Amino acid sequence: MDTKAYSTWLEIDSGAIKDNVKAIQTLTGTQVMAVIKANGYGHGVLAAARAATSAGAQWCGVARMEEALNLRSAGIKSQIMVLGYTPPALIQDAIRNDIHVAIYDPKLAGDYVAHAKQVGGGLKAHVKVETGMGRLGMAPGDVPDFLVDFCNNGAIEVDGIFTHLARADEPDADLTDQQLGKFNTLLLQLQKANLCPPVIHSANSAAVLNFPAAHYDLVRPGIAIFGIDPSPGSHLPESFRPALTWKARLTSVRTLSPGHGVSYGSIYVTSRHERIGIIPVGYGDGYRRVSGQEVIVRGKRVKVVGRVCMDQCMVQLDDVPEAVVGDEVVLLGQQGGERITAEDLAAKWGTISYEVVCGLADRLPRLINES
Ligand SMILES: Cc1ncc(COP(=O)(O)O)c(C=O)c1O
Repeated sequence: MDTKAYSTWLEIDSGAIKDNVKAIQTLTGTQVMAVIKANGYGHGVLAAARAATSAGAQWCGVARMEEALNLRSAGIKSQIMVLGYTPPALIQDAIRNDIHVAIYDPKLAGDYVAHAKQVGGGLKAHVKVETGMGRLGMAPGDVPDFLVDFCNNGAIEVDGIFTHLARADEPDADLTDQQLGKFNTLLLQLQKANLCPPVIHSANSAAVLNFPAAHYDLVRPGIAIFGIDPSPGSHLPESFRPALTWKARLTSVRTLSPGHGVSYGSIYVTSRHERIGIIPVGYGDGYRRVSGQEVIVRGKRVKVVGRVCMDQCMVQLDDVPEAVVGDEVVLLGQQGGERITAEDLAAKWGTISYEVVCGLADRLPRLINES
């Protein structure tokens, strides 16, 4: 990988995404919808889509129609589903581009029908059921009548039904069993009335790992395909590996005299002669303006000191006297025997690993390792 032209960049290991998707298929034996919304969880949506579908994912799942259309226009041939809200004005685009939408509100579905009829119908949809997430979803009691009214009426083909689990990352929480219980009761009712759509799904990454009863016909992993644990208490098997490494180069190394302030506000002041390096990464890239962060230089962890700026931050290099301008620095990933994970950064930032990777700025070049 030629990185000479970059001062900071992300390396995306497409082989890791492929292997993680295959591991999920082996674990579940179901179809896989690779959830790659928010620019593939920050990894780059097209690289993620290409890797996941070439590994056998039959579906790509996104949050918005714009994301789905982007995938189609880039040549992604798999089934594509918009998991969130689709404005009625985009329903004809969905039909033209063979994109499935989520239906969770009978009134909105009425608007979809009106738009679909203008182009001869054929909108593909999955009904989303509210079982306990308290977000999008039709009340289970409304689903049978809705399906009688809308199923295969020419305008809409309902070819899937799904729900979303709120606490699947907590294997001991009762809520998941309650949600699956509600969902199963509805499915049984629909099956008896010959109304059940063919594809049933509910499992995010955590449910892939913790709740085999949630797998049904199709699973919808996102974070797991990128090799990141769904939560601190829900770990991926060892065979999974992270797909993303964030690197930068040292752009300056200087020895500052004792009592020298470093960066805005001078919250860090050198206590002796100190070697201070600069890396061209800041909060404008999705790094955080918090204290206590570390990066890896020449295989050693070093501290980020002083305030993180928009485009730069400073590191204390006394323990790495051999470090020089141009050296590769790892902010997220492995170098030598040291590793900083998305989970580590999330703990430092007081957030979850999802926010760490989704927050990686567009301006960071994503270099794809096509293994
Ligand atoms: C409806 C739906 N399904 C699946 C996923 C994938 O979740 P995860 O990344 O936890 O696997 C998400 C992500 O938020 C989602 O909203």
